[in-house]
Amino acid sequence: MAVRELKIYPDPVLREHCRQVENISEQIHSVLDDLAESMYAHKGIGLAAPQIGETIRIVVVDVEQKDGTPKLIELINPEITESSEACCDYEEGCLSFPGEAHMVTRPARVTLKAQDRQGDVIEFQAEGLLATALQHELDHLDGELFIDHLSRLKRSMIVRRMKKRAREATR
Ligand code: NI
Repeated sequence: MAVRELKIYPDPVLREHCRQVENISEQIHSVLDDLAESMYAHKGIGLAAPQIGETIRIVVVDVEQKDGTPKLIELINPEITESSEACCDYEEGCLSFPGEAHMVTRPARVTLKAQDRQGDVIEFQAEGLLATALQHELDHLDGELFIDHLSRLKRSMIVRRMKKRAREATR
């Protein structure tokens, strides 16, 4: 297991469409382990594989660690099969956008289907912060980012700040 370097916007890997995992090998298990370790090390509540440079359909989420009891959810090839009409707003951040936090509106409840690390198909419902975190992480697998859910004006301000940050980092 290793804490991996995070890909920061505007790294182009964050806009890639990730491929399905066909064979849940040892290498896939080590990506799952690295993702979880990197998420906890950076105090995130979720992390998607492209954020550590792996363009495969894997995410980890843990929205309960702040209470001191980690409850890790590992998902391979996750899909949302149903979303509620009712929406809710949460202030979202993203480990690929350090320092940015913005209100995003998303469906309040979702049903998901995925595979676990044994390859078994699991299906479950989520609501509240967990539903938001899962939708945010699944978006990453299609190269979609939380800023895409904001107004064009807000998005362009964030993009400008992030590009400036990247320029300063390479200086
Ligand atoms: Ni994110």
